Amino acid sequence: MSDLSRLILDRIRDVPDYPKPGVLFKDITPLLADPAAFSAVTDELAGLHEVDKIVGIEARGFILAAPAAYKAGAGFVPMRKKGKLPSETLDESYDLEYGSATIEVHRDAFAPGDRVLIVDDVLATGGTACAAVELVRRAGAEVVAVAVLMELAFLKGRDRLAGVELHPLVIV
Ligand code: PRP
Repeated sequence: MSDLSRLILDRIRDVPDYPKPGVLFKDITPLLADPAAFSAVTDELAGLHEVDKIVGIEARGFILAAPAAYKAGAGFVPMRKKGKLPSETLDESYDLEYGSATIEVHRDAFAPGDRVLIVDDVLATGGTACAAVELVRRAGAEVVAVAVLMELAFLKGRDRLAGVELHPLVIV
């Protein structure tokens, strides 16, 4: 196991039965609170690809994507849950275990052909990342890769990202 993987895995706290019974929640706040781990993760994300924009997905994706964009000299673009962005948006819906969710991006968030890295904390079922990929493409930009701090492999989210480069910093 790499030093970075160890640094990350040692600082992710498992919280049983949150947000509901039977769910084992992966809490990244200990990692964020550790300067060495947070900066190592930021450096890794920033160094993956040369891109014009880094997308962060609300809410925990923002925390990782914004410093990575700063470090990489790229622009930061927020993808938000429905109704949170003030200007004209594109939206994409995806299925949840019960019901559905919608994320949005500003229609003019990208210049034509912008190279884009999408960042989030967790890839679980892949619904969120898949919707994010669609939104970037519909907005006229190119998805270079999706990067996540943690891939929950047993949920097979990567199967929904066929043809998209995926960089999990750790796989659990
Ligand atoms: C979590 C996580 C990812 C998404 C992954 O976000 O931060 O964005 O779920 O799940 P999926 O691969 O099954 O789509 P959540 O919707 O809990 O939002 P939050 O970060 O605002 O709490």
